Amino acid sequence: MCGIVAYIGKKEAYPILMKGLERLEYRGYDSAGVALMQSDTITLYKKRGKVSELEDYCEQRDTSGHAGIAHTRWATHGEPNEQNAHPHLSEDHRIALIHNGIIENYLSLKKELLNRGYKFLSETDTEVLVHLINEMQQKNNVSLEEAVLLALANVEGTYALAILSVDNPDQLILAKKGSPLLIGVGDDDFFVGSDGAPIVEYTNKVVYLDDGDVAVVSPDKGLRIRNIRDEHALLKKPNYQLLEMTLEQIEKGGFETYMLKEIYEQPKSIRDSMRGRINLQKDIVSLGGLIEYEHKMVNAKRFIIAACGTSWHAGLVAEYLIESLVRIPVEVEYASEFRYRNPIIYSDDVLIAISQSGETADTLAAVDLAKRHGATVIGICNVVGSTLARETMAGSYTHAGPEIGVASTKAFTAQVTVLTLMALSLAQKKGSISKSKYHQLVNDLESIPEKIERIFTQEEHIQKIAQFVATRPNAIFLGRGINYPVALEGALKLKEISYIHAEGYPAAEMKHGPIALIDDHMPIIAIATEQLTYDKVVSNIQEVIARKGTVISIVTEGDTTVKGMSKFCIEIPVTEELLTPLVAAVPLQLLAYHVALIRGCDVDKPRNLAKSVSVE
Ligand code: F6R
Repeated sequence: MCGIVAYIGKKEAYPILMKGLERLEYRGYDSAGVALMQSDTITLYKKRGKVSELEDYCEQRDTSGHAGIAHTRWATHGEPNEQNAHPHLSEDHRIALIHNGIIENYLSLKKELLNRGYKFLSETDTEVLVHLINEMQQKNNVSLEEAVLLALANVEGTYALAILSVDNPDQLILAKKGSPLLIGVGDDDFFVGSDGAPIVEYTNKVVYLDDGDVAVVSPDKGLRIRNIRDEHALLKKPNYQLLEMTLEQIEKGGFETYMLKEIYEQPKSIRDSMRGRINLQKDIVSLGGLIEYEHKMVNAKRFIIAACGTSWHAGLVAEYLIESLVRIPVEVEYASEFRYRNPIIYSDDVLIAISQSGETADTLAAVDLAKRHGATVIGICNVVGSTLARETMAGSYTHAGPEIGVASTKAFTAQVTVLTLMALSLAQKKGSISKSKYHQLVNDLESIPEKIERIFTQEEHIQKIAQFVATRPNAIFLGRGINYPVALEGALKLKEISYIHAEGYPAAEMKHGPIALIDDHMPIIAIATEQLTYDKVVSNIQEVIARKGTVISIVTEGDTTVKGMSKFCIEIPVTEELLTPLVAAVPLQLLAYHVALIRGCDVDKPRNLAKSVSVE
């Protein structure tokens, strides 16, 4: 949700900033802009649309300079146009600022600034910051750093900021609250990013800023950090860490798109998510990060799972896994709803927050709420060092590697893998699973990567099915039991990247309303694998056929009944019922992918979306 890059040092800033923006573009692509320090002025270039448009625009322009800030925007306040694009300048053009987050009290601040004669060029919340900082500096005759500290004391909301000033051309000022920001420390320069992607090429020594931190980086004077929550504003010792990311992980590696690469990475990311967590004899499953809290988890009265989007679907799968294996009740909550409905949270509840990015604002708010009620708070997250990883009491990483395609794929299956391991480990500790069932599930879990590889051999067949689906304006996805969340996920993938309207339903719910939608134009994608409710799903499919709906089925290899009823059929390898989501999700990802390609959509950057939703 908006990407921030900044550089200061001896190198040319522009190429570093542009490459960084390209790598952060998944965070938003409504507009892009760059500000460069050129002798005693700030030069600003902004463009509506993607980073490539900004690059084309800058091609014939002066892009020299050794310090700069750049931004790729996902619009919150004000439409995506050049006025609203970042960076924003102070009226005297001496300060430029980029922002990721939302200034919640911007309307009252703006009113006050307007009353004091400031003129606004954009409709953004961000512009108040640059005027406020400028005013603080002039009014109090203080350094820019002091002015930033004073200005931020008046600001409510979330921000990651990078600030460039003509008066201090040898420094960048950075600030963070609620939105991510990290500093890469080079030999004689500094690289700044919303995540590690713009930094990894140059250095792996990083500092993750904490909420309230205001940092000054200068090639000559180094790095200094103070925190606005510290009333004495004392200097903090930077916590240098190793960036756990490689350049290879964030490149396309020969694939046309990140999404396809990430779909194909799933056998590896599932193996990586299991690695070291099942012992050699396969008699113990253990998630290192949770050991300290296992006792609390096994004795919990209730689990609450809070997440958004695809991560919420992984949470729904976990509800089936935990209730069936651990026999502890689970409630799965949209984090955005949970935080505002005054929920009942007991101190012996365990809240599991699931998030690929670890930066989703609503999920983080749910974590905060649960902590305030004294619950145990566990995180399942993919990004090392993210806010979720730092704000939860314990947790497990998913080890899927960076997910750059905006539509989540490998993060989902990695989340389900870790949640399966968690359920198995807790069930073992609680004694709620028989040895034979436990071994059956562990063995089958280990075979999932190879089963997914077999699905990839059907990609051409799935492409043909996509030709059919691509011509339809709507689609319905059906599943039952643990495959109901997979139906929801299949529908989400299709709608978000191909813009076809799609809905997921538990198959038996059809006759309570949605069946009215069925006619000979409606494709029904039904997950009808071997499971307890297989016969019921068969009946649901028959009800669809009786109304001339076209059935596309996902069945277990060797199935003839449902295959015989379907216009198209995708067979998946025989899998333990509780583990089928890991396999059944993959053909649905490929189907959505090919439908979107056929319809000419940008699969990695679907319209209106951004990855890492760090605003409410
Ligand atoms: C869908 C998708 C989103 C995210 C959601 C939560 O493909 O990617 O629905 O799952 O925004 O994001 P995280 O998992 O980062 O909290």
